[in-house]
Amino acid sequence: MFDTYRNAVVTGATSGIGRSTVLALRQRGLTVYAVGRNEEQLGELAATEGVIAIRADVRDTDRISAALDGVEVDILVNNAGILSTRALFHEIDPAEIDAMIDINLKAPMHLTRTLLPGMVARRRGHLLFIGSSGGQAPYPNMAAYGPSKAGLSLFCDNLRCDLLGTSIRVTEIVPGRVQTDLYRNALAGKAAQTLLYDGYRPIQPDNIASIIVNAVELPVFVDVSRIEVFPTDQATGGGTMVKFED
Ligand SMILES: NC(=O)c1ccc[n+]([C@@H]2O[C@H](COP(=O)([O-])OP(=O)(O)OC[C@H]3O[C@@H](n4cnc5c(N)ncnc54)[C@H](OP(=O)(O)O)[C@@H]3O)[C@@H](O)[C@H]2O)c1
Repeated sequence: MFDTYRNAVVTGATSGIGRSTVLALRQRGLTVYAVGRNEEQLGELAATEGVIAIRADVRDTDRISAALDGVEVDILVNNAGILSTRALFHEIDPAEIDAMIDINLKAPMHLTRTLLPGMVARRRGHLLFIGSSGGQAPYPNMAAYGPSKAGLSLFCDNLRCDLLGTSIRVTEIVPGRVQTDLYRNALAGKAAQTLLYDGYRPIQPDNIASIIVNAVELPVFVDVSRIEVFPTDQATGGGTMVKFED
């Protein structure tokens, strides 16, 4: 498959799943355009991995689009995302609602809208989205993050309807807990490490990158439309009930 696809764009390339995905795609010889904000990380990726860095906020579709002018993008990995706060919905800063919907849902929709016409004209392309288990089931303290990812999930299904007959694939990866910096703002200091990772066996970013590469490598008539990936030690479900106290 990698002789068909030449150019990949990865958003959120500076850390976690995005960074691992960049490395995996580079290892297979693709030209990779790495989108992110962290200048130091982008510089390092350019220097050591030969990526083409696009320093931009993922919400700035015009800037990213201008940087990709003339590039025939074959693979778009919409990975950038935030979990900027982890709190009860009635206590979160209302600005966080906009931040999570804008970055996790609207930005990938706009970037996809910008790059899709070229893919459709070429009848070649693979769109990948990093959703979340938080978009498939409710979790406490995630009432803005969850809907942003649920929206992304349904967007993938809608795209697959609209793209029938174009040969363009749409893949949503739905991870459970992955050991990254996602909680850097939601949990202060080393709290994420202690609370979520120490003593557990979370998924590693490289594991998700492998799944992405495997999905791309399948023949073009095979589309891994959605894949849920949990740590073996994690499960969702259950019926929480609390006693009412006057
Ligand atoms: N970790 C998990 O447990 C988990 C589980 C399910 C789904 N996910 C999803 O996986 C994706 C990747 O997250 P991660 O876990 O790898 O966390 P991460 O290490 O925090 O990476 C997030 C990436 O997104 C980028 N980013 C955030 N806001 C941005 C913006 N406004 N413009 C451009 N880039 C932006 C960050 O880059 P800069 O800092 O340079 O801006 C960073 O490279 C996210 O969509 C997340 O929701 C993660």
